[in-house]
Amino acid sequence: MTQDELKKAAALAALDYIVDDTIVGVGTGSTVNHFIDGLATIRSRIRGAVSSSEASSARLAAHGIPVFDLNGIDRIPVYVDGADEIDGRFCMIKGGGGALTREKIVAAVADRFVCICDASKRVDTLGRFPLPVEVIPMARAHVSRELARLGGQPRVRENFVSDNGNLIIDVHGLAITDPCALEGEINQIVGVVTNGLFASRGADVLLLAGAGGVERLARDASPDATRD
Ligand code: A5P
Repeated sequence: MTQDELKKAAALAALDYIVDDTIVGVGTGSTVNHFIDGLATIRSRIRGAVSSSEASSARLAAHGIPVFDLNGIDRIPVYVDGADEIDGRFCMIKGGGGALTREKIVAAVADRFVCICDASKRVDTLGRFPLPVEVIPMARAHVSRELARLGGQPRVRENFVSDNGNLIIDVHGLAITDPCALEGEINQIVGVVTNGLFASRGADVLLLAGAGGVERLARDASPDATRD
């Protein structure tokens, strides 16, 4: 199977986690695009979606799925999103597509985070994938110096502006042994909007597609793990 076929398999498995007659939280990226296409096939079972990016909103709308403003919603039972890396405790690096801030906001509201990935995203230690950090433009130089002080090599993402009008700095060369601590530390740098470590709010369920099928893994409940 190609990597894209694995992404699609993980994405379609997430349809089993949708709660009928509710608003679904929808992430961003190539794996989520398959999920949105799958969601369209069960459109009549959901009220609609809250989206984490302009790109996902446009794809949802093209399928006729109503997209709601998060401020009008008080409960999202399930949020479905991909990841750039995920470790054994279901901490993640996200933001390869630059949508990390809105992703983190929707995930914060959701009861359950279902992560959909192909097996290449599973790592022992986070950090080989450069860590995205969303930054207010006037703080670019200051934040870069502070990120270098933490041991990384910051590089401003070229020709990219986030949906919120900000810059993304990708931090290379970090070996992230304590994701929760680093997430908090980077968020304390003045000028940082948020960073792509999803550790204090990690995934609850991981649907990991590999050559042998889709593994369904629950955080802190490995005996229940199954494979399709
Ligand atoms: C978007 O900003 C990211 O957080 C994505 O969820 C992540 O990059 C995974 O993307 P793919 O599904 O395209 O691999």
